[in-house]
Amino acid sequence: MKGIILHGGHGTRLRPLTHTGPKQLIPIANKPVSQYVLESLRDAGIRDIAIVLGDIFPEKVKDYYGDGGKFGVNITYIYQGKPLGIAHAVGLCESFIKNDKFVVHLGDDLIKGGIKPFVEEFEKSDYDALILLCEVKNPERFGVAQFDDEGNLIKLVEKPKKPPSNYALVGVYFLTPYVFQIIKKLKPSWRGELEITEAIQGLIDSGKKVQHRFVKGWWKDTGTPEDILESNRLILDELETKIKGKVEDEKSIQGRVHIDENSIVEKGAVIRGPAIIGKNTRICSQAYIGPYTSIGNNVIIKRGEIENSIIMDNCQIDIDGKITDSLIGPFSNIASNNKDKPKGCRFIIGDKSQIIT
Ligand code: TTP
Repeated sequence: MKGIILHGGHGTRLRPLTHTGPKQLIPIANKPVSQYVLESLRDAGIRDIAIVLGDIFPEKVKDYYGDGGKFGVNITYIYQGKPLGIAHAVGLCESFIKNDKFVVHLGDDLIKGGIKPFVEEFEKSDYDALILLCEVKNPERFGVAQFDDEGNLIKLVEKPKKPPSNYALVGVYFLTPYVFQIIKKLKPSWRGELEITEAIQGLIDSGKKVQHRFVKGWWKDTGTPEDILESNRLILDELETKIKGKVEDEKSIQGRVHIDENSIVEKGAVIRGPAIIGKNTRICSQAYIGPYTSIGNNVIIKRGEIENSIIMDNCQIDIDGKITDSLIGPFSNIASNNKDKPKGCRFIIGDKSQIIT
């Protein structure tokens, strides 16, 4: 079986972070979202993977993943450029897939426990497609499944105003090459995209065997800042303590904390887990790092309290106050000059930002 990871898209809901890179490279617990996806495919035994690139800094994706060797897979890059739809992106992969069965995984969808059991089931089966569904509170944001009285899947509706059920279509689709015939006949939807829901509907309508399974653990589509922070919490909830760097005073570390090579936690600093600190990072004596925080590589936290946030690589923070629920892009510098302590700030800012409070 082969794999396809979708790495394009507009990423409008994650601006300004997506002004300088694709959203799938945003780190969650210090690892790009799409790396979780790639590892999930690899751990399910899939070695040949196509990454479909969009028009937001695609070279950053190639620089990061290379030929896939470092990650134990073989990567083929396929350019989509403008986001003309998920089904459009899949359609570009026909000559890569040839006659194999395959799985398409959105590059920004995370599923607890990965997809191995589904890969195994699909590989052995005679299904034409297998889709995954997950119960959600806000189905109008997703493709939604409609069932008949016997529980058979009869319809998929994209972002319905009146959802026929609470079961959303997860961004992982198991398919056979037959789907390419359907995709070729699709017309762009009202939003100008070739919709994957319509391609799967086409399979159902032509009497093909489309099975569905329910995802039991958590599933996260990381399209918004809130989704990213929630995914960060879910992943840090499973973090184990690992101290590779130097901790000057062990009293600094409370709960489950991961500290990478060459990082230093100075005496007086407090890190209350779950929290992860990358490589070559310095947590200075007047810093407090609270639960559900991920701090990247080459960061200096001189002063300040940080909680439930992601601070990306090469940032510097030196403030009197507190940063909560924030995404701070790479190379940002946040400093405070005044003596009046701000109560707390919330930031969603892109690369190379400067904030002086
Ligand atoms: P979305 O999150 O629906 O698309 P988007 O990136 O355009 O989001 P926004 O609404 O914030 O502008 O896309 C789901 C996934 O599929 C995501 O990983 C991006 C990817 N994708 C492509 O690779 N090509 C495409 O043409 C589209 C529409 C999405």
